[in-house]
Amino acid sequence: MGRAPGLLGPLPLQFNVYFVQDINAGLKDVAEIPEIQMPVSSLSKEELEDLITKLKKASNGLELHLKEQILSHQALQEALNDPKNGESAFKHLKQQASILGNMEKLHLLGPGRCFVEFGAGRGKLSHWVDIALQNAENVQFLLVERATARFKVDGKHKRKDSIFERLQVDIQHLCLNKVPILEEKKLPLVGIGKHLCGAATDLALRCLVESYTTCCDGENEEPVPKRSKSDKTELASNSSTDNERNEEDTLENSKPVAGIVIALCCHHRCDWTHYVGREFFKSVGLGPVEFHYYQRMSSWATCGMRESITKSSMNDEESEDQTNNTEEHDQAYSKTEGGSDTLQGLLTVEERKEIGCLCKLLIDHGRIEYLQQRGYKAALQYYTESAVSLENILLTAVPRQSWIPEPTA
Ligand SMILES: C[S@@+](CC[C@H](N)C(=O)[O-])C[C@H]1O[C@@H](n2cnc3c(N)ncnc32)[C@H](O)[C@@H]1O
Repeated sequence: MGRAPGLLGPLPLQFNVYFVQDINAGLKDVAEIPEIQMPVSSLSKEELEDLITKLKKASNGLELHLKEQILSHQALQEALNDPKNGESAFKHLKQQASILGNMEKLHLLGPGRCFVEFGAGRGKLSHWVDIALQNAENVQFLLVERATARFKVDGKHKRKDSIFERLQVDIQHLCLNKVPILEEKKLPLVGIGKHLCGAATDLALRCLVESYTTCCDGENEEPVPKRSKSDKTELASNSSTDNERNEEDTLENSKPVAGIVIALCCHHRCDWTHYVGREFFKSVGLGPVEFHYYQRMSSWATCGMRESITKSSMNDEESEDQTNNTEEHDQAYSKTEGGSDTLQGLLTVEERKEIGCLCKLLIDHGRIEYLQQRGYKAALQYYTESAVSLENILLTAVPRQSWIPEPTA
């Protein structure tokens, strides 16, 4: 029976055209995942030592010290200088400014693109990208968020050259190819996110570089738009070498995803089934059991530092931000499993911190290898000071020119 227009509420989420059940979930290999997963606190001293030895061995050879790339962007200058902003708002602005600065450095802030913000919350990051691109033509924004967001800022944009659309869906089920505005214009995508927690990052990466890219291959009848002249002038003033620029110019025309810039968070919320770095883990002799513990132990990275982060006085809008706030996620976790376990006597705070950092690095390295294998030049860097956010790592990726797809069997 048909639905009488106007009589029923909004369409259930799974009936949206872009909803494809588990399209980005990754393959669940039931045989691989042990049924009972014990908490870290129940491990014996020997078991814990064994896990730490394996962790150190697997991280051997990885770049342990990430580059600092704490940047800013003109678009946020006025807001950053506004004394009316409270401490919390200021911290968010600093992070947003650095994310935009990093996007600019990678030449991703330009006309003729669709910015897909994953885990958008109120949509503030897209808001600032829109401000930064105020004179650019043909810009779209897709704000992906599974929760209903209050205090959204995406309804406030009136600029005629940008289109904002909110997709209320879990990234796990998002098929970008079926989003009507993407089908129409086929603009190159830039995937962005600020504090995209745990498994959501893996789902977003798979959404961009597997489900979207695979379906797009060979479908683009028209070449994607070239950069405008003004955009190229902007490039010339940037610090990249000519070679890098040429490389990226060519690439943008050959891949539907022009770039990825995601500030990571909450590694303890990762999930082996969704994790894109499973191949990397297996290649260094690790599997779902080790992943389970490392993901939990990753919260040790910040356990000694949380006390120094004080909650600032907030207005209503900021408190709303805080309900999604990373530090809150971490604090909730530390109370349950990561912090108050029985290992206190076994390891010093410093040792726990070092191990937690290694766990995060290992998980993130798997993501980098995944992107590299799919033709991207990917990197991790610090994008803000730890006093601003304890979750201060930014994952970036742009297509690599020399990439030749592996033949499919
Ligand atoms: C820590 S909050 C960050 C919100 C916002 N980006 C910011 O910086 O204020 C993470 C957001 O990602 C959303 N999220 C997490 N997992 C998701 C998923 N699988 N699909 C869609 N949204 C998700 C949450 O609902 C939440 O709004």
